[in-house]
Amino acid sequence: MTRRSKLISCASYLPEKILTNNDLAKIVDTSDEWIAQRTGIKSRHMAAEGEKTSDMATKAALRALEKAGLKGTDIDAIFLATTTPDQVFPATAVTVQDKIGMGDKGFAFDLQAVCSGFVFALATADNFIKAGQVKRALVIGAEHFTSLLDWNDRTTCVLFGDGAGAVILEADDSGKGTKEDRGILSTHLHSEGAHRDLLYVNGGPSSTKSGGHVVMNGREVFRHAVKRMSEVVEETLKENNIDSSEIKYLVPHQANSRIIESTAQKLNLSSEKVVLTVDHHGNTSAASIPLALAEAVEDGRIAEGDLILMEALGGGLTWGAALVRM
Ligand code: ACO
Repeated sequence: MTRRSKLISCASYLPEKILTNNDLAKIVDTSDEWIAQRTGIKSRHMAAEGEKTSDMATKAALRALEKAGLKGTDIDAIFLATTTPDQVFPATAVTVQDKIGMGDKGFAFDLQAVCSGFVFALATADNFIKAGQVKRALVIGAEHFTSLLDWNDRTTCVLFGDGAGAVILEADDSGKGTKEDRGILSTHLHSEGAHRDLLYVNGGPSSTKSGGHVVMNGREVFRHAVKRMSEVVEETLKENNIDSSEIKYLVPHQANSRIIESTAQKLNLSSEKVVLTVDHHGNTSAASIPLALAEAVEDGRIAEGDLILMEALGGGLTWGAALVRM
């Protein structure tokens, strides 16, 4: 018997307001052409005044529960990846726990690995499930990233957006432990703190006693992203003894279409096998993978039994991948 964490539902939430590149060109010295050519981004969503990370996370979570025919009390744990919590504490996850009606059932906490957050949360939940401590988990990536932006800095403010995505994982002991069994086949996590200065927020309680804004060395982050994502993808394929041709869809972190294309090329995957949402979501950090996954499941591209590969790199630097049989 091999226990797997089976992905039984996924859903997302995007704020109503859409900010196009032309809208941004009215705020900073930029153009639709520059942003689209360098990043692939055309538009992104922005949370409404007063709309918090927990509000977006709760909406995505409730939709995932509804799709699975479950209620809050059917969940044992919430693993919420975010860089933009409602407050420094309590964890945004406990607000979601309350709002989805879990009461005092189980536990909920936040994880912070910036753009890699969802992969880190998925791996954490998977390990809790394999250890037998959790039977059913909500894994959420939710970001209010526009609140971290310096709207005078054209090198960063054009890149990010807001949103949330959620998946439900369930322990499944019915498989034989082969790559054909449904569930998470493997997860791979990495970090290298020596590069923390390439992408960071210039504030925090113990440094400036305040919040702060995103600061980024875009070129260097780009370089590391291409290298590390290819490495972690190769590591995943090797550990599972599979060829890239077996992958139905690559569901990458959505930062920049050029980074995604380069990873796909290295994998020999055609663009039809890559879920691309960066054009209409921008970079939503920890929310980007579950947002992309939910879109491809909802429009029927990804179906039960498909082998999908998720990968991400973010501030830290952190990076990782997850191979999942849907
Ligand atoms: N509009 C117009 N011009 C701009 C803008 C803008 N929004 N931003 C920068 N420029 C200018 C620069 O000032 C520079 O002008 P100069 O040559 O006169 O000095 C010129 O454009 C080129 O700037 P570069 O920074 O060299 O542009 P580059 O081709 O590297 O593209 C970008 C920048 C898009 C940020 C790219 O480096 C990138 O995507 N990096 C990855 C970073 C990323 O995605 N981070 C997200 C978080 S991490 C992650 O999720 C992977």
